[in-house]
Amino acid sequence: MKIKRAVIPAAGLGTRMFPISKTVPKEMLSVGQKPIIQYAVEEATDYGIETVVIIINSEKEIIERYFLKEPCLDYISDRAVEHLKFISSKVELIFLYQNQPKGLADAISISMEIIKNEPFALLLPDNILFSDTSSLYILSEVFNKYKRDVSALTKIYPVEFKLFGNSGKVELEKIDGRVYSIKEIKNKERGVFVSNSCDPIIRGFARHILFPHFFDYIERIRSDLNGELDDVPVFQLLLKEKGMIGCLLDGKGYDGGNLLGYQAANEFIQNNVIKPVK
Ligand code: UTP
Repeated sequence: MKIKRAVIPAAGLGTRMFPISKTVPKEMLSVGQKPIIQYAVEEATDYGIETVVIIINSEKEIIERYFLKEPCLDYISDRAVEHLKFISSKVELIFLYQNQPKGLADAISISMEIIKNEPFALLLPDNILFSDTSSLYILSEVFNKYKRDVSALTKIYPVEFKLFGNSGKVELEKIDGRVYSIKEIKNKERGVFVSNSCDPIIRGFARHILFPHFFDYIERIRSDLNGELDDVPVFQLLLKEKGMIGCLLDGKGYDGGNLLGYQAANEFIQNNVIKPVK
């Protein structure tokens, strides 16, 4: 089954990137020559996603303007123009509003009116993946084979721990090759990724392919909760009741939602021959 729709939530406060993100959405900060969110949009469109739902708020309308206004053709390379034009002409981009930053799962729930009853891809745009092929090819293959909700995994080395937030920690059991059964999803904590391990660690990475039952799980968690509706409790309940598959991605992933990760992503572009710019 081809996945046709993708959700990209971009309405968060971005406190880890304060003060710059008070005026410029962190999703619009550039990595190389493009805003970081464009990499997630291209990851979706390269795979053939037909409809991309981007969740914004009234202070982030610059994201909508960036994608939907005519690019300044004279000032950017032909390939860059081609890609921006492709995105705005061939892919349906839908912008929906989360009026208050009530948490990532709340933002995802806003897309339900568009996603309806179909499996969908979820991509967090402050996390960037440098890879020759879109993550969605391999994630959808695994999704179709195992018929379970699939979350991406990435391997990080001890020198890179400080580049990631203290989240995405998972217990895994290998099934085959790059495919794992997820045994536990740990709670998110503030600060940088903490681990005593001297070896590389496999952690979650912000790409998923999910059945639409994900929206039911969001509502079940919402009904038990007063504060922010984060994604982790939703994934934990889903894991408990249905099981989930983890899939190790190719390429190099960075958490551009914090300053060190953001800088590392830019350094990667400067130092590598793999050119993410289309
Ligand atoms: P983060 O977990 O990085 O949250 O969200 P955040 O609030 O933006 O950042 P910090 O932790 O305060 O620095 C991952 C993605 O989900 C979106 C964000 O915009 C980001 O792209 N998000 C988060 C929403 O759309 N709404 C929310 O309420 C929270």
